[in-house]
Amino acid sequence: MNHEYMLIEGPTRLQGEVTLEGAKNAVLVIMASLILTDGKSRLTNVPVSSDVFQMIKLLQDLGAEVLFDIPNKTLDVDTTKLHPAAVSPEIMQKMRASILVMGPLLARFGKASVALPGGCLLGARPIDLHLRAFANMGAHIEVKGEYLDLTAARLTPQRFVLEYPSVGATENIMMAAIGTLGQTIIINAAIEPEVLDLIIVLQKMGADIQLEVPGTIIINGVSHLKPIQHMIVPDRLEAGTLLLAAAVTKGSIAIPDAPAHYMEIFLDKLQEMGHCVTVSATGGITLVATETPRAVSFKTMPYPGFPTDLQAPMMVAQCLAQGSSTIYETVFENRLVQVRELQKMGAQITVDGPLIAHCKGVDLLFGARVIAPDIRASAALVIAGLAAQGQTIMTGLHHFRRGYTRLEEKLNSLGARITIVTE
Ligand code: EPZ
Repeated sequence: MNHEYMLIEGPTRLQGEVTLEGAKNAVLVIMASLILTDGKSRLTNVPVSSDVFQMIKLLQDLGAEVLFDIPNKTLDVDTTKLHPAAVSPEIMQKMRASILVMGPLLARFGKASVALPGGCLLGARPIDLHLRAFANMGAHIEVKGEYLDLTAARLTPQRFVLEYPSVGATENIMMAAIGTLGQTIIINAAIEPEVLDLIIVLQKMGADIQLEVPGTIIINGVSHLKPIQHMIVPDRLEAGTLLLAAAVTKGSIAIPDAPAHYMEIFLDKLQEMGHCVTVSATGGITLVATETPRAVSFKTMPYPGFPTDLQAPMMVAQCLAQGSSTIYETVFENRLVQVRELQKMGAQITVDGPLIAHCKGVDLLFGARVIAPDIRASAALVIAGLAAQGQTIMTGLHHFRRGYTRLEEKLNSLGARITIVTE
């Protein structure tokens, strides 16, 4: 088997303008939601990432006809001939988002069979909130070998108070509920921008969904949901990653299609570090990095708190800032996996248990051989490589490809020197 790695020459100073891809964490759940409809839907601004191809394969295994016009980032999905097949272990192991087909399959067919989830190694990542909700709605859940079999002659509407505002559980419950006649209420629901983009799609399908603050979603089930056309929301996490790449290389960047209104706490933290951040009327973002960034502490929280998916890239910025900082990862129990790799590059980080990291800023990082342990940690290591003195070699590129589309090309257009080497 070919061995491939990413070679990053540093240090570089990034400068220029880029545009964003559609949000990975919006497109995957929206593709799953198409199971609720029987007809031809069209999605545009679809990111060309490996997870999208996995979700395409999953929908095809269920009988959907899918056409992906890659150059135009347009996905046509015909769900007329859909049937409730089992979601294979191969797909489930590669993409945890496969669990998001459970709700729509239950709503449309009264049954779902999924292999037990895998995906990122972010701690245990249970799906107890999903399953408890489905059971409360009347689904019978049985573990058969490596599969979870869910059946429900008829789902019944319920009132849920989520003990944690889980993104996936909120999405799965919503999709099960919109095909269930009666009123379902989700209290303490996730309100991430990607959840809001899904709500827009479900409303386009004909669903009766209302969002009330703080974090309450009211769904009145309907009997029929129609195919839709939708443009996927720009990826705030790609935007954050690009901004941090410019920040740590003391460069400047403009992202005219950024959703700044979905990134406020993150942008506040960049300004607290001393970077000059300006936002246009449409949400576009420009950053001019400071030569003397100040370290800032932060805590990851559910939206609108600091996003856990930007924790690892933001840690790199703290490692190269003046002063000390503390990073609290409160969303996932195993999301400091980049620390060991960053330490190989000279970062001064100590961890205090699985959730807290203390960073002491240094003037320089040094290129090293590193291994990407998950999607967002891979982005952090790329950012560190851009600022480091010398060559960084990163393996584990499959993680990077799951979350980002040609990000290395965008970074090179800004002045980075990144090559993908296949031996
Ligand atoms: C979604 O994952 C995203 N993935 C994640 O992005 C993102 O980090 C996360 O939301 C938080 O914003 C997709 O949208 C495909 P959760 P999800 O359910 O739904 C616990 C990336 O890098 N929990 O909000 O799995 C869970 O263990 C990925 O793009 C339960 O305990 O996140 C975690 O500690 C990574 N039981 C916390 O809740 C459950 O039944 C948040 O998980 C479900 C979740």
